[in-house]
Amino acid sequence: MEVSFEILRFDPSRDSSPRYQTYRVEAEPNSRILDVLNTIKWEQDGTLTYRRSCAHGVCGSDAVVINGKNGLACQQLLKNYGGRTRFRIEPLPAFRVIKDLVVDMEPFFRHYERIKPYFVNEKPPPETERLQDPVDREAIDDATKCILCGACTGSCPSFWSNQQYLGPAALLKAFRFVFDTRDTATDERLKVVNDQDGLWRCHTIFNCNACCPKEIDITDAISRLKVLAVQTRL
Ligand code: SF4
Ligand code: SF4
Ligand code: FES
Repeated sequence: MEVSFEILRFDPSRDSSPRYQTYRVEAEPNSRILDVLNTIKWEQDGTLTYRRSCAHGVCGSDAVVINGKNGLACQQLLKNYGGRTRFRIEPLPAFRVIKDLVVDMEPFFRHYERIKPYFVNEKPPPETERLQDPVDREAIDDATKCILCGACTGSCPSFWSNQQYLGPAALLKAFRFVFDTRDTATDERLKVVNDQDGLWRCHTIFNCNACCPKEIDITDAISRLKVLAVQTRL
């Protein structure tokens, strides 16, 4: 099948404004969006710029907007689009474009860092590992699957209007450790997420859930953090 890819191109060092460029490519229904981008770059236009690494939905580097919806280019097959042959590919919204589909993820990782995205437990380590009840582990299981692709934060209207907002990915990671029964930095994290640029900027619009490639219920995690923040009154 022949598909047409309309890609938003922009090189801030040369262009005064972004423009769409259309490429026509022979592909299979089972081809992924990333396969088509690779074909364009390798066979038609080496200047096309995008991020990718694992090509298997693990590294989280190739989140883009595909026909209006954020997702991983390596996870979406052409046949998932109901026979469509025209595709529009754009960079994640809200982030500054470095070139073409590559955006500056600095705000994303700055917010992520603020919630201390690592296990904290000041008690002396036991002789073996810190054990956890399987039921307790189950409660955070979904949240551990995040690959930091940024699709959720890039889809969040609250983040579009205020980039100081921590955003869904950072809040999800806060949830992952706050609800980890072995972690002891709950109060510190709740103070960070319970401020003016945290939890309460989420208006439960569900855009984040709709585009997460790992199908994580991010909105539920944020809601549970809100309940805990109210209960603990930090
Ligand atoms: S549910 Fe909250 S975090 Fe998710 S997109 Fe909506 S406002 Fe953003
Ligand atoms: S929560 Fe989902 S969409 Fe957001 S960064 Fe993690 S994997 Fe990506
Ligand atoms: S290239 Fe790694 S997730 Fe798509």
